[in-house]
Amino acid sequence: MLTKVVLITGATGYFGRYFVKELSNYYSIIALGRDMKKLEELSEFTLENICLDIYDINQTVEIIEQLSNKYDIYGLINNAYDFSTQTGFNTPSGKFEMISVEMMRNGLESGILSPMVITQIVCKKMIEKGIHGSIINISSMYGLVTPDVNLYEGKSVFNPIIYSVSKAAIDAMTRYIASFFGQYGIRCNSIAPGPFPNIESQSDNSPDDKEFLERLKKKTMLNRFGHPKELLGILKLLLSDDSSFITGETICVDGGWTKK
Ligand SMILES: NC(=O)c1ccc[n+]([C@@H]2O[C@H](COP(=O)([O-])OP(=O)(O)OC[C@H]3O[C@@H](n4cnc5c(N)ncnc54)[C@H](OP(=O)(O)O)[C@@H]3O)[C@@H](O)[C@H]2O)c1
Repeated sequence: MLTKVVLITGATGYFGRYFVKELSNYYSIIALGRDMKKLEELSEFTLENICLDIYDINQTVEIIEQLSNKYDIYGLINNAYDFSTQTGFNTPSGKFEMISVEMMRNGLESGILSPMVITQIVCKKMIEKGIHGSIINISSMYGLVTPDVNLYEGKSVFNPIIYSVSKAAIDAMTRYIASFFGQYGIRCNSIAPGPFPNIESQSDNSPDDKEFLERLKKKTMLNRFGHPKELLGILKLLLSDDSSFITGETICVDGGWTKK
């Protein structure tokens, strides 16, 4: 077993799988996901695989408390998000005029409530055990800039308000944790990816509208979208002691989208 333990939520997703595989070279990985079959595919890279529905807050508390007692968790990557129509993605009913309270609540639960509760438990244990840990929140450029309305003209793909609100909130949480827990040697940073549509597997985040994908590419300075491998450098830096004086940051990996 490698000494430092890192917990990753949404481990079976498009980013999660790349995160698990790469980080397993340096850390012992606990993978959290909602589908045991998908988790088992990662078994050769993980110390433990845990099935957890982020909407079930009682189960979340119970499992994270058990894991924090059992292991000295050094790293936490809050990566899960529900990209489905349940949170207003890719459905006309996700538009602001129509989005339901239930969709708003789902967006907030999956995007901020669940990571906040997980972080609270993990940080408490880090302080108790004297672990100088690193928390990384996978945010989005849409916490910093608003989706361009023109991108969606005539399209069925859609990005709801609650996603932007949740990601802005998680960046606020990043700064708050960094400020209040810095005194215990705990660091907290956000990574804000730009466009990384899942072109490798079928998921809630894999638009197949070619014209829409071209529109996305043109919004970056590099005229392309990103690949999850392009997040690994910053992820490893923020987990490691090489970033020991970096905390409270939201770091964009967006091909220049937010600077254009
Ligand atoms: N891809 C992008 O363009 C992009 C851009 C900016 C930010 N991000 C952020 O990056 C993170 C990862 O996104 P991704 O592109 O890898 O999307 P993804 O493939 O849909 O991954 C999301 C993960 O969350 C899990 N999840 C969803 N609902 C859940 C629930 N109720 N309980 C437990 N787990 C649940 C999914 O489980 P399953 O594997 O079972 O589906 C999946 O593993 C998200 O926080 C997202 O907001 C992505």
